[in-house]
Amino acid sequence: MHAVSALVASLAACASLVSAKRVIVKVGANTTDDPSLIFQPQQVTATAGDVVVFTFENGTHTATQADFAAPCIPLSFHNSSVNGFNSGERPANNGTTVTTLEVPITDNTTTFWFYDNDSCGDGGVGGININQTSTETLDGFVRNAERLNGTAASSSSSSFSPEQTGSSGGGSSSTGPSDTSSTSPAGRPAVLLGAVLALPLAIAGLLL
Ligand SMILES: *[C@@H]1O[C@H](CO)[C@@H](O)[C@H](O)[C@H]1NC(C)=O
Ligand SMILES: *[C@@H]1O[C@H](CO)[C@@H](O)[C@H](O)[C@H]1NC(C)=O
Ligand SMILES: *[C@@H]1O[C@H](CO)[C@@H](O)[C@H](O)[C@H]1NC(C)=O
Ligand SMILES: *[C@@H]1O[C@H](CO)[C@@H](O)[C@H](O)[C@H]1NC(C)=O
Ligand SMILES: *[C@@H]1O[C@H](CO)[C@@H](O)[C@H](O)[C@H]1NC(C)=O
Ligand SMILES: *[C@@H]1O[C@H](CO)[C@@H](O)[C@H](O)[C@H]1NC(C)=O
Ligand SMILES: *[C@@H]1O[C@H](CO)[C@@H](O)[C@H](O)[C@H]1NC(C)=O
Ligand SMILES: *[C@@H]1O[C@H](CO)[C@@H](O)[C@H](O)[C@H]1NC(C)=O
Repeated sequence: MHAVSALVASLAACASLVSAKRVIVKVGANTTDDPSLIFQPQQVTATAGDVVVFTFENGTHTATQADFAAPCIPLSFHNSSVNGFNSGERPANNGTTVTTLEVPITDNTTTFWFYDNDSCGDGGVGGININQTSTETLDGFVRNAERLNGTAASSSSSSFSPEQTGSSGGGSSSTGPSDTSSTSPAGRPAVLLGAVLALPLAIAGLLL
C-alpha cells in the first residue's frame, strides 16, 4: 500500500520532471516583528512534482499543517484521518544551521494551510495553492488564527465557529483589511468575538 502510493508519487514526479521545481518558503528570515513575515512568501503555488521547501533561517519556529477552520493546531489533532506535515520546533542559530522541511506536491488544486507554532495566534500562518476564488482566503485564515488563537485545540466539539460557518461579525471575506498587524481596528472585535465564543465552551465545561 505504502509502496504503491510511493510509486504513484514518483511516477507523478517523473511525469512532470521537466518542469518540477523547488519552491522556497523562508521561515524566520525577516527579523521584524510582523508575524505575516514569518513565512516568506506567505503563500506559494506549486504544481504536481514540485517540492515546497521550508528553510528555517533564524529563531525557533515550526511549519505545521492545519485545517482552515482550526489554524493553530496540527491537522492530525483536528482530523485524525489525515496526517499533515509538521516540522516540529526547528531552532536556527542566528542564520546558521539552517534546516529544511520538504513537502512534495502531487496536484495543484489541494490547498495546504500551515502555521508557525510560536506566532500562529498573531497571524504567523500561510498557505500553498490557495484557491483564489474560494471563500477560504489567506486573510480569512489569518483572522481565524488571530480569533481562535489555538483555542480550538480544547474544543473538539462543533461549538466553535470558524469563519465560513460562523456568520457573526465581519463575514465579508473579500474585504478584509490589507494591514494584518494585530493592532488593526479589526483586531478588537475579533478578540471580543473569541471571548463570546469561549463562553458556551466554558459553560459546557462546567456541565461536564
Ligand atoms: C523584512 O520584510 C520587509 C517587508 O517585506 C522588508 O522591507 C525588509 O527589508 C525585510 N527585512 C529583512 C531583514 O529581510
Ligand atoms: C477528515 O479528512 C478526510 C480526508 O480529507 C475527510 O474526508 C473528512 O471529511 C475530514 N473530516 C473532518 C471532520 O473534517
Ligand atoms: C547574528 O548575525 C548577524 C548577521 O550576520 C550579526 O550581525 C550578529 O552579530 C549575529 N549575532 C550573534 C549573537 O551572533
Ligand atoms: C536573527 O534574529 C535575531 C533576533 O531577531 C537578530 O538579532 C539577528 O540579526 C538575526 N540574524 C540574522 C542572520 O538575520
Ligand atoms: C494544474 O494541473 C492540471 C492537471 O495536471 C494542468 O492541466 C494545469 O495546467 C495545472 N495548472 C497550473 C496553473 O499549473
Ligand atoms: C506549541 O507551543 C506551545 C506553547 O505556546 C507548546 O506548549 C507546545 O508544546 C508547542 N507545540 C509544538 C508541537 O511544538
Ligand atoms: C494567544 O496565545 C498566546 C500564546 O499562547 C497567548 O500569550 C495570548 O494571550 C493568546 N491571546 C488570546 C487573545 O487568547
Ligand atoms: C475554487 O473555489 C471555487 C469556489 O468555491 C470552486 O468552484 C472551485 O471548484 C475551486 N477550485 C478548485 C481547484 O478546487
